[in-house]
Amino acid sequence: MKFIRGIRGVTAAALALTLAACGSSVKTADEAPSGGSAAGALVGVTMPTKSSERWIHDGDNIKSALEKLGYKVDLQYAENDIPTQVNQIENQITKGARLLVIASIDGTSLTTQLQEAADHKIPVIAYDRLLTNSPNVDYYATFDNFKVGVEQANSLLKGLGTGPGPFTIELFGGSPDDNNSTYFFNGAMSVLKPLIDSGKLVVKSGQTTFAPTAILRWDPATAQRRMEDLLTKTYTGGAKVDGVLSPYDGLSIGILSALKSNGYGTAGQPYPPVTGQDAEVASVKSIIAGEQYSTVFKDTRKLADVTVKMADSVLKGGKAQVNNTTDYNNGKKVVPSYLLQPVVVDKANYQKELVDSGYYTAGELK
Ligand code: GAL
Repeated sequence: MKFIRGIRGVTAAALALTLAACGSSVKTADEAPSGGSAAGALVGVTMPTKSSERWIHDGDNIKSALEKLGYKVDLQYAENDIPTQVNQIENQITKGARLLVIASIDGTSLTTQLQEAADHKIPVIAYDRLLTNSPNVDYYATFDNFKVGVEQANSLLKGLGTGPGPFTIELFGGSPDDNNSTYFFNGAMSVLKPLIDSGKLVVKSGQTTFAPTAILRWDPATAQRRMEDLLTKTYTGGAKVDGVLSPYDGLSIGILSALKSNGYGTAGQPYPPVTGQDAEVASVKSIIAGEQYSTVFKDTRKLADVTVKMADSVLKGGKAQVNNTTDYNNGKKVVPSYLLQPVVVDKANYQKELVDSGYYTAGELK
């Protein structure tokens, strides 16, 4: 029995006796149910995909911080395939994970696994994306998602400039199965809608609601196709798009490609401002090159840090620190949340926010 050590050994020995008395086999620390010693406990971490580099940073940061605290970590990526993520979580429960950190692909699709986790008394932290339609979500660590949208819209307006307009814009939304997407969209529309209503901004396609603008699984190629369609069907006869609201860097890259193949990105016809999110390397390089206008930087080091502190407190039997207990109702409960603040990054401040802060080296952005 590896975990009988020092003072904790007394409790552990008592637990072992109780388990033996109940006819259960005595478990090792790795397999011990929640409530046993936290030392060396296994934490299951599932991330949606490696195709977007942010999740690689997220996963690496969480894993190394948890390992520094002495935990074991099973880190899995599901390449945006829901059944794969379902299997990964089930495996982690079987392997005796004592806590789960989940960045879901589809926030609604894990209710069965979350119930299994609850049945095994395994606490769950929703990471970045809320897990919905389940009472079995203990905490949520994320950025202020509504504010992300507000900042994207403000940055778009800054990029459009101070002229009187009207300015012609198009809107893109995130994946419809990601709970964050409507927060981003609604945040942006809280800024843009009054200007659309007043006529200062014109969405020439007429697509001003979330559904027609949403891009399933945040797929850059789908965004590129939609932008191509908009340009070839709506922007005929010399009409130009003056700005594009994009909620994520991967989409922004696709949108910029479509713009490029339709004649934008030249001295005579520069790219319109295109926003983004995540400060991914390709997009920061594009910003430096004067192509993408801005991104929203969400420091994954800070998100990992908050999450690991939450996990550590919960594994030690305590409560996690939160700063929001009102905004994130997942359909079954308001999930206690910790919200971090996003930062808009453009050509003017990327050096300070991304390089001086040590998030990237100057070399990585060359
Ligand atoms: C969202 C996340 C964004 C972005 C997007 C695409 O859930 O909050 O930061 O990463 O997914 O991966």
